[in-house]
Amino acid sequence: MSRRAFRASILHFLQDPSELPHARARESYAYFEDGLLVVENGLVSDVGDYAEHAPQLGDTPVVDYRGKLLVPGFIDCHVHYPQTGMIGSYGEELLSWLDTYTYPAERAFADPEHARTVADLFLSELLRNGTTTALVFASVHACSAEALFERALALNMRLITGKVLMDRNAPDYLTDTPQSAYTESKRLIEQWHGRGRLGYAVTPRFAGSSSPEQLRVAKRLLDEHPSCWLHTHVAENRSEVAWIEQLYASECAPGTSYLGVYEHFGLLTQRSVFAHGVQLADDDFELVAKRRSAIAFCPTSNLFLGSGLFRYRKAKEVDIKLGLATDVGGGTSFSQLQSLNEAYKIVKLQGDKLSALEAFFLATLGSAEALELDGKIGSFRDGNEADFVVLDPQATPLLRFRMENTRDLEERLFVFMTLGDDRAIEATYVAGERVHARA
Ligand code: GUN
Ligand code: ZN
Repeated sequence: MSRRAFRASILHFLQDPSELPHARARESYAYFEDGLLVVENGLVSDVGDYAEHAPQLGDTPVVDYRGKLLVPGFIDCHVHYPQTGMIGSYGEELLSWLDTYTYPAERAFADPEHARTVADLFLSELLRNGTTTALVFASVHACSAEALFERALALNMRLITGKVLMDRNAPDYLTDTPQSAYTESKRLIEQWHGRGRLGYAVTPRFAGSSSPEQLRVAKRLLDEHPSCWLHTHVAENRSEVAWIEQLYASECAPGTSYLGVYEHFGLLTQRSVFAHGVQLADDDFELVAKRRSAIAFCPTSNLFLGSGLFRYRKAKEVDIKLGLATDVGGGTSFSQLQSLNEAYKIVKLQGDKLSALEAFFLATLGSAEALELDGKIGSFRDGNEADFVVLDPQATPLLRFRMENTRDLEERLFVFMTLGDDRAIEATYVAGERVHARA
């Protein structure tokens, strides 16, 4: 048996702070200024005050991170690994951005060697940024999903991906068919879903690039494998919405919304994650909530591609499960601290505020709930998998100087999310093992 302990300031959430009146927000989390996290065989076995737990430590080795803040590993609820090499591509909105930059970049993932090289770089970027779990788009090529599964398995990461389904409105070199989508997804599910900490997501790119027949295949795969996820895009950009609604006008009832198209095909499940949702109407929001599906909020991407301002508060009001996502390469940073920085501004531009507590909940337990993984990750509950990040409040001269000028935990968290990025990640642990240490 392996047993180790970590001494640091420790924070994790017990519930959504936005569900509590502001005066009782303190009840949403546990914080130990001088804390101890005990890990046994990769699982959390104890968390609390150092002084209280130290006497029971015996000869358990203790890693000393005093002066640092230890939080559950960040979770990225929507990201594209084949887009790692085209992040920050200039000038276009969604549909022309896909044609100009995205599809050509994904073409190269027909080559398994290229896929493995980028998978390695991608996973090391996640870990350098403190992200320990992600829901990831591969490319249309089965070997691209295999490459990422292989590498994530070697790191023992909890990671979900899937081969992309796309059989129309895309270059020939990047399309499959309903039949090949079915056969290849099925094979990948049988091979990878539930192996180590891996999971499979049935991944139709978006309604625009899948035929009705292929969306029916997606539904069939989910029916046959109900513990798999459904991962797709919805209502990101105005021209996209207009196009999709027209594309499905004959297949679906008149006036069917973009989200309604997925509902028509039975794709709104408790394990469905829809990226963006920037353009969703109120009744769409209500339907997402009713089906217990999740939305991945992608702040840096929504700003970078000019897609719009996600209605965060409205989504919270109707009780939608919300996850935080980078959406690299539409997003411009692998850092969830930077996603939160931009999320704050998106909410602010709508006359509201995203508190630091809400923000850190969103990046950890909130995202775990969005992925239906809160029984395993996202907090330091006893028996959870010990994925965590060590944040350094003195990572840069400015962070150090600014942190001296903070009065409480909430202010320190807010400074981490406005000024922090990969430099603030001192170390990242997966199942109790260190997988990244800042140079
Ligand atoms: N919609 C369909 N494909 C994509 C993609 O690759 N990125 C984003 N941001 N939106 C999409
Ligand atoms: Zn995306």
